Amino acid sequence: MEFERNILCIGAGYVGGPTMAVIALKCPEYRIEVVDINEERIQQWNSDNIPIYEPGLDEIVKQVRNKNLFFSTDIQKGIKKADIIFVSVNTPTKTFGEGAGMASDLQHWEKTAHTIIEYANSDKIIVEKSTLPVRTAEAMERILKASNKGIKFEVVSNPEFLAEGSAVRDLLEPDRVLIGAHQTPEGRKAEKELADIYAHWIPRGKIIITNLWSSELSKLVANAFLAQRISSINAVSALCEKTDADISEIAYAVGSDSRIGPKFLNASIGFGGSCFKKDILNLVYITKSYGLNEAAEYWEMVVKMNEHQKQRFVQRIVKEMFNTVADKKIALFGFAFKANTGDTRESAAIFITKQLLEERAVVAITDPKALDNARMDLKGIDRNVIYEPDPYKAAEGAYAVALVTEWEEFKTLDYERIYKSMKKPAFVFDGRNILDHKKLYEIGFNVYPIGKTQLTHFE
Ligand code: NAD
Ligand code: UDX
Repeated sequence: MEFERNILCIGAGYVGGPTMAVIALKCPEYRIEVVDINEERIQQWNSDNIPIYEPGLDEIVKQVRNKNLFFSTDIQKGIKKADIIFVSVNTPTKTFGEGAGMASDLQHWEKTAHTIIEYANSDKIIVEKSTLPVRTAEAMERILKASNKGIKFEVVSNPEFLAEGSAVRDLLEPDRVLIGAHQTPEGRKAEKELADIYAHWIPRGKIIITNLWSSELSKLVANAFLAQRISSINAVSALCEKTDADISEIAYAVGSDSRIGPKFLNASIGFGGSCFKKDILNLVYITKSYGLNEAAEYWEMVVKMNEHQKQRFVQRIVKEMFNTVADKKIALFGFAFKANTGDTRESAAIFITKQLLEERAVVAITDPKALDNARMDLKGIDRNVIYEPDPYKAAEGAYAVALVTEWEEFKTLDYERIYKSMKKPAFVFDGRNILDHKKLYEIGFNVYPIGKTQLTHFE
């Protein structure tokens, strides 16, 4: 079959894979190829066991794979063929040199630019899909223009706003699609080509067009605003625990103001995931590099508050369990950074487990999708860790259950059965406020929610 356009995506990760699967589904006249340097990942995308868990993704991939969606490691061939190249390689926090621990590590991004000029032999639109510091497109253009091959590259920014666990829904029905391009005839043409792809299934009114720099910066700012809400509610949760105010009631009362809105006000053990911390730190770094120190400190506090919330959760466990958890089994319900994903990147569970191990506890981890990643995260330090798919077995003989991820299945467990199998006094630390605290208390548990009055049987 002859395809109208050839689209290439470099980077077959949490963003590249699902995004291209949805574009393939909605644009059958385009041929889409997703390439990666990671051979194992590409093999998995081509197998029945795709490398990431996202509700609904498996079905879409099965529908379009090897029809108009292809996964390959042949980057060279992919670049030659492509009219439009999406780049969705990882941009983690830099761990070395200038800006270590803050700035974005752009080495994968830069290598991709060099690979593109090496193999390109026709004009291309380059789409920044990765989250990047503001003005990265400028560097990309400099590299691409240095090629001297007489090829024209037009760089546009098109940040991705999907959240893990709801990636397919977010891609099918996004709040908005953002496209930033140079306001030149070539820039506008590229912007229109990209908008035409999305217009296959997204109303034009939801496609926002900005200049390149606004688009790049909007992505960092969107994540900073979302994370800021979580740190704000978590800061209030600490105050609630001291005053018998209830964080859920406050979130409802405050969120009912239409100017504030009800979403993203769930107090928790702290946000995790591969994006929030890295993107805020990057925003802090960029802001500081322009000498805007007060603005940088303001955003940095969002991350500091989050670290404090994780620490507070562990400190509470140790304090309430009579100041020692040494040799005590603690069942960790959940390890993923949020429900409906197996991803554990920056999950608060990693910090919590490490701290509990420092306190010499035995940690039994149960999670419906994240046990393999948990094993990798704790490799070398997991002598006192038990990985157990069955939550009932994880809780057997434990002194406490610490709920870390808000999986639906944890809500519907038989907690009477769990209570009977545990050591007494039995504790529940609900780091997500998803359990029925009153019922747990009536069963006999000592219950410690986040930002709510604790329910204990002690005098
Ligand atoms: P990821 O680590 O899952 O995937 C990135 C992929 O790029 C990897 O498979 C890696 O092997 C590949 N890669 C790296 N260098 C390459 C190269 N030179 N050539 C070919 N492939 C290469 O990362 P991700 O979670 O998909 O994130 C990608 C980007 O999207 C990041 O900038 C991230 O901030 C942003 N983002 C992520 C999310 C999310 O929820 N994960 C959401 C929005 C935006
Ligand atoms: C986030 C952004 O939401 C998304 O738009 C962006 O593209 C990538 O980063 P993601 O990290 O996948 O997505 O998940 P998200 O739903 O934002 O949750 C991030 C963390 O915040 C999770 O650990 C989650 O449990 C936590 N969270 C979220 C809270 O603690 N409370 C809330 O009210 C909401």
